[in-house]
Amino acid sequence: MIRALYITDEDINKDNYLRSNLPKEIEIVKVNSKDEAIDQVLSKGPFHIALIDVENKDIEALDLMTAYSELVDSIDFVFFGNSSLYAGNVESQLDEEMMAVAHHLEYPFNEDALENVFMDIILKYKRIEESAALIEIDESEFAPLKLRSLYLFKSIPADAYIKFSSNKFMKVIKKNTLITEALIQSFVKRKVKFVYLYKSDQLQVLEDAITEMYITLDKYKDTKVLLENLIRSVGIIHSYLRWIGTGDAVLSLVDKVIEKCEYVIEKEPDLLALLGKFPFSAGDVAEKSILTSLFGCSILESINYKASGTRSKIILSALLCDSTLENDDLCKINSVKDPNLRMFSEDEQEEFKIHPVREGELASLFTKYPEVDFILHQHHEQPDGSGFPVGLRGKKITLISAIFILCNDLASYIIQRGLKRSVLRKAAEVLEEKYAYVPFKEPFKMLTKKLA
Ligand SMILES: [Fe+2]
Repeated sequence: MIRALYITDEDINKDNYLRSNLPKEIEIVKVNSKDEAIDQVLSKGPFHIALIDVENKDIEALDLMTAYSELVDSIDFVFFGNSSLYAGNVESQLDEEMMAVAHHLEYPFNEDALENVFMDIILKYKRIEESAALIEIDESEFAPLKLRSLYLFKSIPADAYIKFSSNKFMKVIKKNTLITEALIQSFVKRKVKFVYLYKSDQLQVLEDAITEMYITLDKYKDTKVLLENLIRSVGIIHSYLRWIGTGDAVLSLVDKVIEKCEYVIEKEPDLLALLGKFPFSAGDVAEKSILTSLFGCSILESINYKASGTRSKIILSALLCDSTLENDDLCKINSVKDPNLRMFSEDEQEEFKIHPVREGELASLFTKYPEVDFILHQHHEQPDGSGFPVGLRGKKITLISAIFILCNDLASYIIQRGLKRSVLRKAAEVLEEKYAYVPFKEPFKMLTKKLA
């Protein structure tokens, strides 16, 4: 935001005109006197523009300009009002340096002239800010935070950067500044998926996020809000596991997410109605996790599968599934034979091939939830033996793994295409043949019946 200090004598016409015609990037702070203007600069930091009315006899424009120039490194002056007053009282007394940052607008204002002056100033300060904010640093100094995680914070207690090129990063969020929806959307438009924090800041930021999310999950009971918060929690859990590892805080949040997923499915047993409240948005791994959990719990309910803790095992499997994949888009690939896999880098392809094994190992750290390691190890096996990493076939795959595999597959299908009746019908058709084998057949029938 470009900040303009506006020294006015309360001429309401000029005031209204400026406020309604200045570009939206400019924020005006209004003051009534030179002393108040100086106080603002000293207490609130530098301004980019000083707006000065040359027709106001109480303001000695040149005197003010000199005072500003001493206080602030870089500031542009926009004088407005009668041309001859400007020429006589201001312009004639400016030295070369001051001329370079002085602009004049005739009053009544001409819209085009006003736009030209302010757009030039905006571009100038954007260039200055960008070059000042760009740093060259080894990527290993940083840890990424998924963009979605920013929704958790009102502000973050550390500077955040985006990747500009291989070893150049641009500071985009200053420590403790307000994180607005507009700011996040500006990143979304630029296809930014991660912001980067110094590793030394990451632990504090993620621990704060876990604490806040834990409280937030208990606070809101509305199904849609709860689902949104569950999806956000998955983002935080994945970042923590990836960059910090396991620990009491993240384990507590995992338990809380499991509890709340179970709560949602009990509160809303009609799966189709529940999906109507699902906040489809980014189509990423976090959405897929929660969708898979809901499908899995719904199947368990239908087939009356009451083995101890099965629901929580399915939910934890969904939480950890694909958490080790750095590129979120890989979560939409289901087979090493999928031609789309070739669109990823060689490293990403290798990462994909081994991720079921890595996630099985990760799950073995969650000792409260046995079997999740097997489920994750098997989550890309297929009924016809064409899956990986082992190529298990049919009955060699356990029932609980089969339930997870088909739920994960269906969730992946839906997040790529959105939730529509036609998508659900097509998914049932496409996947029916694939899952026409024991132990997949019965749970698949149950799930598609619920979604019909
Ligand atoms: Fe996977």
